[in-house]
Amino acid sequence: MRRIALLTGGGDCPGLNAVIRAVVLKASEFGYEVEGVLRGWKGLLDPPQTRPLTPEDVENIHFIGGTILLTSRANPYSCKEHGEVSDRHSEVIRNLRELNCDALIAIGGQDTLGVAYKLSREGINVIGIPKTIDNDLQATDYTFGFDTAINIATESIDRLHTTAYSHERVLIVEIMGRHVGWMTLFAGLAGGAHLVLIPEVPFNIAEVCEFVQRRKQSGKGYTLIAIAEGAVPEKGSTFSVKRVERDEFGHPVLGGISEMLAKEIEERTGLETRNVILGHLQRGGTPSAFDRVLGIRFGIKAVELVEQGNFGRMVSLRATQIVDVPLSDAVRKLKTIPLQLYEEAKLFFR
Ligand code: F6P
Repeated sequence: MRRIALLTGGGDCPGLNAVIRAVVLKASEFGYEVEGVLRGWKGLLDPPQTRPLTPEDVENIHFIGGTILLTSRANPYSCKEHGEVSDRHSEVIRNLRELNCDALIAIGGQDTLGVAYKLSREGINVIGIPKTIDNDLQATDYTFGFDTAINIATESIDRLHTTAYSHERVLIVEIMGRHVGWMTLFAGLAGGAHLVLIPEVPFNIAEVCEFVQRRKQSGKGYTLIAIAEGAVPEKGSTFSVKRVERDEFGHPVLGGISEMLAKEIEERTGLETRNVILGHLQRGGTPSAFDRVLGIRFGIKAVELVEQGNFGRMVSLRATQIVDVPLSDAVRKLKTIPLQLYEEAKLFFR
């Protein structure tokens, strides 16, 4: 029987199980077996870790957050073990062949799909499905996971308004987004944050403090600032951000900018300031209807591409249509916020 290997890599996000279910059901319609690879790329290193996925296995998983296949940030081209870094991607290629898989569907963000792209250049039949709460992948209008995450962040901002108002405080809410501010800008706009700080536009600490003070002086009792975890102060600023730890893809492990900003604002303005890091709350739990349906449509399209033998592609949302694009287009660079969109949002920074 023909077989498809399926893996989820990188940070989890709501909607992964809806995609897994769609892939398994569509594959079964075409007469494929699906071999689920456990723990992302780690499951294709020696010894391989897989489990068969039947239509019965995926019944009623569409509303469950996370991924039944588990995930990791393992990078087969740069594996870190006992302080050593090694290239083990040939194990992935060998194991895929030994598993007798005709194709691999990789569900992931920039890093996972970057590995998928490299493998496709080595002759592996790969299809990518774009996933990430960060919405930072090129060549698709939206990734699944983003909608759920911004709704969680928006609800959090709504709640923070009332407590910040009551205590007449400055409140800084830190939202995920390492290199891009999609989540922070969308949740900030939806939740009516008074100021939104994103990685694409370095902030000036003196201007942020002036903004806070201006609001206070004009009788607005409290200020709510949404800041992306990857936001950075302008070059040459006396306020600096320390980042030390890195994951297997070389990304800094973030979290903490809001705390530093809160301290700085309190020191400079004398106004009582608190911070909240939403962190992994934004990635957990039930996917929204939008993410479930987008995931389902991506899963179906991915299996259709396998059936057509159209490899090295990523499924993508363009307006309302599900299309396919070269994997290379998706991973070339991150999709950042167009400056014009940020300029438009400034209408609400008051
Ligand atoms: O999946 C992307 C992301 O959510 C980033 O926004 C965030 O910086 C990172 O994952 C956190 O990763 P981890 O779960 O490895 O701490």
